[in-house]
Amino acid sequence: MKHKTIKSIPLFILLCFVSISSHADSLYTELGESDGINKFVTKAVEISHTDQRIAFLFEDTDDEELIIQISDQICFLSDGPCEYDGQDMDEVHSGMEITEAEFDIFVAIVIDSMEYADISHSARNKLLALLAPMREDIINQ
Ligand code: HEM
Repeated sequence: MKHKTIKSIPLFILLCFVSISSHADSLYTELGESDGINKFVTKAVEISHTDQRIAFLFEDTDDEELIIQISDQICFLSDGPCEYDGQDMDEVHSGMEITEAEFDIFVAIVIDSMEYADISHSARNKLLALLAPMREDIINQ
């Protein structure tokens, strides 16, 4: 029994190391955790209101709630400690008739906002790769 415990100590240390290092490398960490995500999502919503090409879509939004929902979703997608409990992407964007051009404008705004929040190129690209598959659910619903 004692022998077994001693043998399992290196394994325990290894598991701790793996867990610490994988957390350090997670996209959530690269995005600046909840403060970093909140910073660029807030900026993206702010710019969306001022960009005349898509501002009309944001006329009636509850920005505080919208920022929380988008931030939670990005936190969840990037392996952060969050759950996303908002609506499905096709459900929430249905009726807005978002075009491909409008989708691309919004994504460009998200990219500018990540740059504003000093998010690295590599983290920006990783997040964009996670958002790209949502395109089909959001456009022309
Ligand atoms: C990958 C891209 C996108 C993601 C991840 C995303 C995510 C979200 C989320 C999480 C919500 C809140 C859901 C809820 O409240 O339950 C939301 C709402 C909203 N989104 Fe998006 N969205 C994306 C693209 C777009 C685009 C391209 C537009 C317009 C150009 C847009 C406009 C809106 C608006 C106006 C709302 C608020 C709806 C309301 O208050 O009823 N979104 N989005």
